[in-house]
Amino acid sequence: MSLTFTATPNPSPVGAAERAAILENPGFGQYMTDHMVTATWTKGEGWHSGELTAYGNISLSPAAAVLHYAQEIFEGMKAYRHPDGSIWSFRPEANAERLINSARRMALPELPVEDFLESVRLLVQADQAWVPAADEGEKSLYLRPFMYASAAFLGLRPSVEVKYSVIASPAAAIFTGGLRPVKLWLCEHFARAGAGGTGAAKCGGNYASALAGQIEGTEHGCDQAVFLDSSTHTFVDELGGMNLFFVKSDGTLVTPELTGTILPGITRSSVLELAKEFDLSAEERKIPVEEWKQGVANGDILEVFACGTAAIVTPVGELVWEGGSAPSTAGEHGGPITNGIRERLLGIQKGTSEDTYGWMHRL
Ligand code: PLP
Ligand code: COI
Repeated sequence: MSLTFTATPNPSPVGAAERAAILENPGFGQYMTDHMVTATWTKGEGWHSGELTAYGNISLSPAAAVLHYAQEIFEGMKAYRHPDGSIWSFRPEANAERLINSARRMALPELPVEDFLESVRLLVQADQAWVPAADEGEKSLYLRPFMYASAAFLGLRPSVEVKYSVIASPAAAIFTGGLRPVKLWLCEHFARAGAGGTGAAKCGGNYASALAGQIEGTEHGCDQAVFLDSSTHTFVDELGGMNLFFVKSDGTLVTPELTGTILPGITRSSVLELAKEFDLSAEERKIPVEEWKQGVANGDILEVFACGTAAIVTPVGELVWEGGSAPSTAGEHGGPITNGIRERLLGIQKGTSEDTYGWMHRL
């Protein structure tokens, strides 16, 4: 481990009554906890100045590279309270490794796995009162580690100073209106990421580039946009913030293969492993969007679902495009496989279903 962290507790944390009211109805990403963790990397010196402090605004030069060239990466993970009161996270080493891969792609410094885990542990320990109760369904504490180029320099080069932070936000479902099948807009005009680009890195620019498609989707009454491969516009990539799965009538569970343009989701890789518990054979391959459109109509595709840390497993109710749509036949609550995988995954995360994979990490 290269970093040590000092701790200066927030002298005026949110009061217990206000916190309880927030935890009652946290929404997603709206409220932040009392603390944050920060560390600095300087060229030639490496990582230093690790600290836990009160959550608060940061001061940044208007010339900071991140504001001009978007040299930034982040992670998304959750802390869950188990029935015995203990607090756990789901495969955090995988988030640490993905942050390292994103850093390599975006010319940012690598944060060692142990430092990443320690930063998350420290924040959750300081803000443990913000982790929702075990019996609160899918509620959890969403954790957002991120890293950005803070050096003030307008020339284009990898930043000589970088900041790493972790903040936390209590979270309920990311989609409003309870667990319901979501409606997806097929984005045929914009791509999220292209071959050789940054699609497999979790960097802010990918999300900014997905927003125009999301606006189109909202205008068509949809919850999220589906992006296709940027070269042929025929194969399914993923959503702006989730991976996609298809349950086929031949007993396969299919998801787009990792071509470098989609994010290698940790939920995605976990669902691929869980498939065998549902007697499904998992397949990663290119999926023509025509296979989706026709499959739901002719019964080859029984269920479609989206997955990710924020979304967990969310049924897809309909694919909508300019001049047409493919409604799911899985019913108003989503199909049995989707709901079975969701229950099993959430059960492992919340400690009510046995973690036979060794995925959970006590914080
Ligand atoms: N795809 C994108 C673009 C995402 O932002 C996310 C969310 O993090 C995912 C997929 C799902 O990844 P994970 O399951 O690791 O949260
Ligand atoms: C996550 O699931 O952690 C995400 O990153 C989704 C986010 C874009 C809201």
